[in-house]
Amino acid sequence: NPSNHVRIVEVGARDGLQNEKTLLPADVKIALIDRLSSTGLQTIEATSFVSPKWVPQLADAAEVFRGIRKVPGVSYPVLVPNLQGYRRAREVGATDIAVFTAASEAFNRKNINASIDESIERFIPVIEQARADRVKVRGYVSTVLGCPYQGEVPVADVVRVARRMYELGCHEISLGDTIGVGTPAEARAMLHAVAQEVPMAALAVHFHDTYGQALANILACLEEGVRVVDSAVSGTGGCPYAKGATGNVASEDVVYMLHGMGMSTGVDLDLLVAVGAWLAAQLHKDTASRVTRARTAP
Ligand code: HMG
Ligand code: MG
Repeated sequence: NPSNHVRIVEVGARDGLQNEKTLLPADVKIALIDRLSSTGLQTIEATSFVSPKWVPQLADAAEVFRGIRKVPGVSYPVLVPNLQGYRRAREVGATDIAVFTAASEAFNRKNINASIDESIERFIPVIEQARADRVKVRGYVSTVLGCPYQGEVPVADVVRVARRMYELGCHEISLGDTIGVGTPAEARAMLHAVAQEVPMAALAVHFHDTYGQALANILACLEEGVRVVDSAVSGTGGCPYAKGATGNVASEDVVYMLHGMGMSTGVDLDLLVAVGAWLAAQLHKDTASRVTRARTAP
């Protein structure tokens, strides 16, 4: 009997910004995370210690991580692709990290210049070091419902990669529809298959809204029993190495849906809408959140 509480993993400061062409100054990123910290969110992905050549927007990861106010009870995970990234993250005091790979060989090659197996070999020492340092590790599996380069991704591949990451010691596995192509029955079947090998309580879903399916997919996965949902305030986001991928599902829209269903998130929707509207203004963009658009319309 799954609980009524859903934990939102806010990825706007990382996934949301990594694909933005205009470089945002570090102090704006710090302000974004600090504002998010006062909305009631429990998990706020802060930045990413990847190669600055690959993701220039997040070259200021150390400065941002150092600058944010760490609210007790809130965790601030950061993306780490290898030991070099791990050391950079630890230098500024990160205690939660996320490693990432994909269920598709072709996507991994473009995103991290490695095969699936090579990427796993690469983060084994990261996970080992993290265990020694008592650092919590989340694992992302990308392209779980389709790949921009290889097309269809067999569910068996998703299950195999998710299970391997869990066995290696990731406390939570986030299943990512990187290019937002999946539809609800597929999302649900994929989650069901993974949950045969990894406990549902250790699974999260991560939908990009490219085809407008994200909320429907989340609902289908909630019905299947998932209780951790990744989203980005104002619906920003996208992976620079996933052609055509647009933003993550907007956190405001997820929270609105969940509260409407009588589920709890601990998030103050009014405060979140204010952050979303503020971020859209910083980016000189219209918000992609329908809730924020509705609530802030003149
Ligand atoms: P590479 O070029 O194959 O690796 O990149 P390398 O080891 O040969 O390193 C090349 C250069 O990068 C070297 O510098 C390294 O020092 C440097 P040089 O000698 O040329 O001056 N370097 C680093 N610098 C800082 N921090 C580091 C680091 N590592 C190497 N950690 C690598 C391999 C993995 C590093 C690269 O491909 C990379 O950084 N990729 C990251 C791509 C990325 O961030 N993608 C987006 C995140 S994934 C995502 O968005 C999906 C997700 O949201 C879920 C979903 O939606 O599905 C999570
Ligand atoms: Mg993503």
